[in-house]
Order: sequence, then structure tokens, then C-alpha cells
Amino acid sequence: MLTQDDLKRQAAAAAMELVLEVLAPDTVVGVGTGSTADHFIDGLAAHRGRFRGCVASSERSARRLADHGVAVLELNEVDSMPVYVDGADEIDSNLYMIKGGGGALTREKIVASVARRFICIVDESKLVDSLGAFPLPIEVIPMARAAVARRLSALGGRAALREDFVTDNGNVILDVHGLRIIDAQAFERQINDIPGVVTCGLFALAGADIALLATQRGVRRLKAPRLGET
Ligand code: 5RP
Repeated sequence: MLTQDDLKRQAAAAAMELVLEVLAPDTVVGVGTGSTADHFIDGLAAHRGRFRGCVASSERSARRLADHGVAVLELNEVDSMPVYVDGADEIDSNLYMIKGGGGALTREKIVASVARRFICIVDESKLVDSLGAFPLPIEVIPMARAAVARRLSALGGRAALREDFVTDNGNVILDVHGLRIIDAQAFERQINDIPGVVTCGLFALAGADIALLATQRGVRRLKAPRLGET
């Protein structure tokens, strides 16, 4: 029986195989945040001489990359990236995700938006029929914390301030419990429209392109339905 961490390592190794196909001396790789992304960083570091460097979605991942001797670039120095690799807290069959358990959702969304492909690496516990059992993280400007919490309560959620946590951008996180997310894209838009919200941890307007789902019987590759059969 493989542990959850073994499965995370396997998902990361499967992503590494896909990333190796695009590595060239000028390639920049987008790198996510979390324990699964850490495994990916460790695997990628073995190939550090073969590509230009990485853009990291958090200070934590940037440190890990730098400790491995991988060049860490500012996003402003980079026009495009072939791929962004990151974990998720939940993912559904549309490859819509909830992210931000590690609090890095804003930079994750930004870096992913510049990459041509989002590869999501998860163990099988993260695959859900519908999103929302995992409390939805929302990054909020500190002065708007109470106002945003009231608006979320009107949408049926219970917003809890993540204690003793400040994001890399100097903001706070509200973790929203009890949401029934039926139309994830519409819900993401609705939350994005609340003044004071910096980023919503729903990644549905731009979900993953590929998910590598590590199971006890091997790694399954799922493709976003919007990409069709090609
Ligand atoms: C961090 C994230 C992570 O991808 C998510 O929390 C999953 O983490 P892990 O790989 O440790 O299970 O969104 O903000």
C-alpha cells in the first residue's frame, strides 16, 4: 500500500516525463507550491543544466529551487512558458480545481496564466465529484476582511480567517466552509467581483489542461474535456 506521499511523488515523476519533452536551453518552467510541487522541484533540479530556469509561485518554492541551484526568474523577465506544474486541494472531472491550501493561490493563478499548459499533479484523494468540501481559500486585502466575510456569508459560506498567516503579497486568507459550488465558473466570477478580494482559490475559468492522478494502480492521465479528443 503506497502512502499519500508516495503517490504525490509518483504524480510529480509523471509530470517530469512530460516536462522533459519540452526542456531546451531557453525553456522556463512554471513551478507551483506545496508538498506535491516540492517533489516536482526535486526531480526537476536533476536536469538544471538543460533549461534556463523557473518562475516560482511562492517564496517557499523559490527558496527550494535556489537551494537546488536552479535559476529563479522574475515573471516580468519572461514572455511565455510551455508549462506550469502544480498540485491542488481538489480537482473535478472538468479539471476545475480548488487551490490555495498553502496560501499561494494568487501567484499560482498569475504564473499559470502565462504558461501554455497547466499540468496538475495530485494523489487520488484530491479527485472529487463536486468542488467545495475543502474550504475555499480566498486572498483578501486586510482592511476588507470583515466586509468580504459578510458577502461570502450571503452566498451561503462561513468564512474563517486563517490564523497567523500572511501571504507573500502581504494579505490575509479567508477559508470559506460550507459552500455548495454548482457552477464553478460563475461562482469564481461572482467572488472575483467582491471588492477587496485579490484572488479566489477556484481555478475554473482557467482550469488545468492535464491532470496526473496517482492511484494505487498507477498514474492516470486526465485531459480537460474542453480540449476535446485532440
Ligand atoms: C498551495 C496549493 C497546493 O497546490 C495545494 O494546497 C496542494 O498541496 P499539497 O501538494 O501539499 O497537497 O494550492 O497554495
